[in-house]
Amino acid sequence: MVSHINKVAVIGLGTMGAGIVEVFAKAGHEVYAVDGSTELAERGKGFVTKSLDRAVAKGKLAEADRDATLARITFTAELADLADADLVVEAVPERMEIKHLIFTALDDIVRPDAVLASNTSSLLLTEIAAGTAHPERVVGMHFFNPAPVLALVEVIETVLADPQVVTAVRELALNLGKRPVVVGDRAGFVANALLIPYLARAIALYQTGKVSREDLDNAARVGIGLPMGPLTLSDLVGLDVVREVCEVMYDATKRPSDASPALLKQLVLAGRLGRKTGRGFYDYAADAGAGAA
Ligand code: 3HC
Repeated sequence: MVSHINKVAVIGLGTMGAGIVEVFAKAGHEVYAVDGSTELAERGKGFVTKSLDRAVAKGKLAEADRDATLARITFTAELADLADADLVVEAVPERMEIKHLIFTALDDIVRPDAVLASNTSSLLLTEIAAGTAHPERVVGMHFFNPAPVLALVEVIETVLADPQVVTAVRELALNLGKRPVVVGDRAGFVANALLIPYLARAIALYQTGKVSREDLDNAARVGIGLPMGPLTLSDLVGLDVVREVCEVMYDATKRPSDASPALLKQLVLAGRLGRKTGRGFYDYAADAGAGAA
């Protein structure tokens, strides 16, 4: 297996994928940033460039470093370009059939010793791995939103995984300046298993009409010391993602507290997915599209 991971590919350039590209490129890796069409790859380039420009404007990043970071990234719509990648991180929407298509295509493209990782937040990684020719090289590499800021990376290990691959990905995360935790393949892994029932509980509480969204969020921020209230955080994560993880958790536990609240389902059906669509519990019309998934 690859002991030295240099060339990395990230597939899917939504909120998470673009953030993950930024993390790798800033750390000095050569990155292929892939999406399903030239337009989507260009859109992804726009997200990464905007984020780096913001850092330059804040005086956190020198212009020369921004340019060097961007120069390390090749934006493409061609999976075939990934033949020399040491690691591929998939960050496409949470549909098992799309993941299977991508991972089976990668089997024929990348070297046999390349590592294949998924940023899935809700799907069973074992099912993704089992559909590939080499399930021993498939792991989870689960970043947290915003990926350039949050240090946690869950490295997810299936029963099929080669322990050396898990160790290599953990070390890679450390070299990126992240704080990896190794977790078995279970619904919600660890962080989402803690977070999502709390977000669902908050949405159910808001749904009762007994508290305003601002007061509810302030109670969590001011009273419990969390960086964001749960409704603001749900909008950041994406209400579709919150709902998907809720459903996976509920399927696994059948605990009523893990069920998706009716209001969450309605907002998702209405296309109000949070920041990425410009509206969720709050209105973000002014910065809509600033990193849609
Ligand atoms: N991209 C890059 N940088 C960003 C960013 C983004 N999207 N959003 C904020 N930042 C940076 C800011 O530039 C700022 O950097 P600086 O300190 O160097 O100037 C820093 O983060 C702090 O931002 P702000 O001052 O604007 O605001 P806050 O202090 O409120 O921090 C926050 C913003 C980091 C988002 C913070 O509120 C936070 O940590 N919120 C909780 C987020 C969280 O819990 N995420 C996990 C969600 S679960 C998940 O992703 C898993 C999935 O599977 C569901």
